Amino acid sequence: MTAGIPLSAPDITEAEIAAVVAVLRTPHLSLGPELAAFESELAASHGVEHAIAVSSGTAGLHLSLLTLGIGAGHEVIVPSFAFVAVAGAVLQVGARPVFAEIDPHTLNLDPAAVEQAITPRTRAILAVHTFGVPAPMDALRTIAQRHHLALVEDACEAIGARYCNQQAGSLGDLAILGFYPNKQITTGEGGAVLTRNPAYAARLRRLRNQGRNPGSEWLDHAEPGYNYRLSELACALGRVQLQRLDQILEQRRAVALRYHALLADIPELELPPLALPHREISWFVYVVRLPQSVDRDSVQAELAGHGIATGRYFPPIHLQPALQQYGHTAPLPLTESLARRTLALPFFNRIQPHQQERVAAVLRTALAQHRAIPA
Ligand SMILES: Cc1ncc(COP(=O)(O)O)c(C=O)c1O
Repeated sequence: MTAGIPLSAPDITEAEIAAVVAVLRTPHLSLGPELAAFESELAASHGVEHAIAVSSGTAGLHLSLLTLGIGAGHEVIVPSFAFVAVAGAVLQVGARPVFAEIDPHTLNLDPAAVEQAITPRTRAILAVHTFGVPAPMDALRTIAQRHHLALVEDACEAIGARYCNQQAGSLGDLAILGFYPNKQITTGEGGAVLTRNPAYAARLRRLRNQGRNPGSEWLDHAEPGYNYRLSELACALGRVQLQRLDQILEQRRAVALRYHALLADIPELELPPLALPHREISWFVYVVRLPQSVDRDSVQAELAGHGIATGRYFPPIHLQPALQQYGHTAPLPLTESLARRTLALPFFNRIQPHQQERVAAVLRTALAQHRAIPA
């Protein structure tokens, strides 16, 4: 029987294993030298002054909104074509996510739609670099300045991407990275918040560590906080992964190019853009758009039957049952129609050419078989 092909897979070498084992031979399993080194390496590689490592991307989003003073009665503009944590973090601080439409080409927030969604209650724009494609930060920055709003970058899917030759993660008032195992680099679970603002950095450090000020006694708490710390083991793993980032991004780009070559001649199948003006893509996932005439879920089931895992990236957040009690029901026709057609194919550093060829062949047959019968 042929082995299955996963949707994603972490890329762990002996160097990562050695780094984690080395930590286990020390007495420092939390709040030690690996954390300090990981944070300064993250800050330096993004050209910002401060990086605060946290236990997940979601924790980073939560702390970023708290640090900006966002809470009850406030609104934050977010895309609905995104991972649920984008809206979940807004709800977590008691504010309201307001969903805006996306640009159908880049799948990023559409600046014109963002501006239309602004109300007197809006406090921030949460720009997601969807699938590693940088959001239009210039236009969003102009809008944010015009309306006195904070601009937060969700760069969880985009480490290493560049916009106008600047690192994703260095362009907002605060930026969040994510290190879940499906990401370009991983710490198992983990994330980080990047900022140039020293006051934000101090608050983030306090909030992630039970409200303790750095250097204060363990049982002294300046404000209510959280345990969103990242362990020394995770930081050691992250440091080696970060050192390998350029090589990893190169491998992922090669995987994307190979998919393009294999899929380019399938009629009506839309492939993700390989290049975009002013942007360098950090390939997170490879998401194709199926023809309108094809039932995406049947194609996904067909691929699963051949042991090929795929993902529905992303079901719109505003349609999720989790959001219904909050009454966010404004339709987003573009988001909804795109989300019915998108399918993420298996995509990871070490995917083999023969595995990609199998994905392409099965997808080709499935598309031919699952054309919807006209009503
Ligand atoms: C855009 C985006 N934001 C936030 C998150 C949440 O990160 P985590 O799973 O580390 O909490 C993810 C994770 O998949 C993401 O893709």
